[in-house]
Amino acid sequence: MYICICNAIRETDLRKAALSCDGDAEATYACLGKRPNCGQCLDEAQEIIDAERAAAACDFLAVEAA
Ligand code: FES
Repeated sequence: MYICICNAIRETDLRKAALSCDGDAEATYACLGKRPNCGQCLDEAQEIIDAERAAAACDFLAVEAA
């Protein structure tokens, strides 16, 4: 599914970038070589980025606790 129509950024690409890039949605877009145009996607993109990073943190803590 496309999250950003203007830049043709798919959810899967955004989730991968969330783990390899720092910063907010705009910074993550920049990491992908893109930048927001209309900006309508940024709130949803930020939610996905936050969720992906939170899930990765939980996985890390689970491994650390084991
Ligand atoms: S839909 Fe992402 S900048 Fe327009």
